[in-house]
Formats: sequence, structure tokens, C-alpha cells
Amino acid sequence: MLIINPSKSNPADIQPSEITPREAFEDRRSWLKAAGFTLLSGAVLHSKFAQAATVTGGETKGSGILVGRANQGNGLTYKPAVVSGGKINGYVKTTYGAGEKLTKYEDVTTYNNYYEFGTDKSDPAQNSSFFKPRPWSISIDGEVKKPKTINIDDLMRLAPLEERIYRHRCVEAWSMVVPWIGLPLSELIKWAEPTGNAKYIEFISANDPQTMPGARVPILDWPYVEGLRMDEAMNPLTLLAVGLYGEVLPNQNGAPVRLVVPWKYGFKGAKAIVKIRFQEKMPLTTWAKTGPSEYGFYANVNPNVDHPRWTQSSEKRIGAGLFAGRVKTLMFNGYSEQVGQLYAGMDLKKFF
Ligand code: MTE
Repeated sequence: MLIINPSKSNPADIQPSEITPREAFEDRRSWLKAAGFTLLSGAVLHSKFAQAATVTGGETKGSGILVGRANQGNGLTYKPAVVSGGKINGYVKTTYGAGEKLTKYEDVTTYNNYYEFGTDKSDPAQNSSFFKPRPWSISIDGEVKKPKTINIDDLMRLAPLEERIYRHRCVEAWSMVVPWIGLPLSELIKWAEPTGNAKYIEFISANDPQTMPGARVPILDWPYVEGLRMDEAMNPLTLLAVGLYGEVLPNQNGAPVRLVVPWKYGFKGAKAIVKIRFQEKMPLTTWAKTGPSEYGFYANVNPNVDHPRWTQSSEKRIGAGLFAGRVKTLMFNGYSEQVGQLYAGMDLKKFF
């Protein structure tokens, strides 16, 4: 297995010159259609890696892992970020993704996959206005010392919020570059106190047919479920995102909290998480259940393993313009240095 070392080939330097032999890539929507699933029509639907940091929102500026630390008299050793008028103030800017060209806010928030709101890319932005991301809480159970619940405000205070610019690669062979705001998932895991039996962690998304029109139709087996191995979940790259572009997450991007695992295909990033369960056994995840011959549990970005129906060696960068060529896909989406060791000895051609 070829593993590209991003220190030798800087992902930010890729030239969009590699043209795929297939003009158009297929998406899972057409596959679901062919497989006989009912689709909804538009009419029916309505840290540690931080090397330099700056706190936004008029707070202390400086460099170092975290700045603005002060005992606030509430047990915290830092000043937590606050939300005001949809903006997040007081998050830490990091050097993750420095030099990457960001995908425009308009593209990040109107070209989405979120089948609970419909299967067209524009459906989530159009059909999610009745969805209420606050108040919100996540329940945590399974292999933990004792089950717990945490509300979104407390979650956002568990650790300093960081902005991290990550490449976001969908299994459908399109990609974006997104400035997420969030906290390392490891912070929540430490708070949750899993037992020694916890080998996997399962993420369960909201399933509210009242406000999620797609969830009224059995497009997928709701609720949407994803999962990670514990060491993947504890990797410092794995983020629980609560915002993007300095704002709280828009509904269509997974408000109020979603998973971001930048070296895996985007479908691993469960949106609107309501439950987290620590488990001894590998969870059966939504896409692995829906199409086991096409979507596996690991779903690591891998240009050497094609999807059965399209190439994974290159990707279309959303918003790059009509004449931009395709971008070469990198092993582990360019994050090999940080995560390659997690898969030592594994056959990366296997889906499971
Ligand atoms: N989470 C839920 N609950 N439902 C979904 O349909 N789609 C996944 C993932 N998370 C999905 C989901 C897929 S296929 C992708 S590519 C990403 O969300 C898309 O995230 P974005 O819309 O913010 O780009």
C-alpha cells in the first residue's frame, strides 16, 4: 500500500490538473434510485496540534497552544467561547490547514449531504428551517462508568473551542476546504469515562420526522448511525464541530454538533448527534448496512481503492469553477503523518 507522506507532498500545493477518465461521477442518489429506494421530490420536501493560536472576538491575542487561560472561578482554567447572535466569540485560531484555499461559505452551506432533509444537494439548506438545534443534549451510555447527559452549552465549555481548517472529501469524489470550529472528541471521551471494555464508539443522529422531512421516508434506515474505533476517536485530529466560518453550525451542516474525521470519507461525519454509545463490538453503521459492497466501516480516504462505480484517485473541488481540473486525492486525505500508524498491518483494500 502506497502511503503518501504529506511532509514531502504538501496537500496545499496540489495542482488541479489530473483529469478523471470519467466525465461525470455518479452519486449515491442515482444508486439508491436504481436500488428501488423511494426518493423525495423537492415539492414534497421542504490541543494539541495547535502551534500558534489567537483568541478571537476581542480577547487576548498571542501565540502558544492556548491563550487567554485564566481561572474564571468556575473550575475552568480558560475563558470559554460564547455564542452571541449566531457568532462564536473567543475560539482559538490554529495553524491547521494554513495555506489552504477555503471553499466559499455559500458553497459549504448550500451543497450538502443530509438525507434527513432530502437527497438533493440543495435540499438540506432549503428544508431545514423548522429544525431546532437548541436546546440540545447528548446522552452517553454503553461501556461507561455511568451513563451521562451533556447539554450543548456545557459541551462547548468542556475545552477551548478551536478553529481548524480541514479538507473534507466525500465518497462521491467531491471535496471542500472548511474552517470548522469545535473541540477534540477526546475531550468528551475523557469526560464520559469509558470502561476498559470500550473498543468502539457509536454516534447516533437526530431522527425527528416532524422537522426532518427526509426522515419521514425510508431512504435510509433511520436514525443515521456512524462509528469509530476508540483509537481513531481519540486521535487529536478527530473533531466535534459546533461551528464553521466563525458561526454556529447552520442546520444543513449538522447543527448543533457533528463529527468531523478529516482522513475519512465525509459520511463518517454524523450530523446532529443525540446519542453516543461506547461499545465492545464494531457498530453496524448506516452506509455499511445500506451498501456493504460499497461502503465499509473504516472508509479511509484512499486513492488506490476505487469505489465499485467510480474512481477515487481524484476529486472535484466544489466552487473551483467550470474549467478547473480535478484534484489528485491523497492517501488519508493528506493526513497520513497523523493517522497512518493507526492502520499498520491492516489490508486497506478491505472495506471491513
Ligand atoms: N449525517 C446525517 N445524520 N445524515 C446524513 O445524510 N451525510 C453524510 C455526513 N453526515 C449525512 C450525515 C455525508 S454522505 C457527508 S459527505 C457529510 O455529512 C456532508 O457534510 P456537509 O453537508 O457538511 O458537507
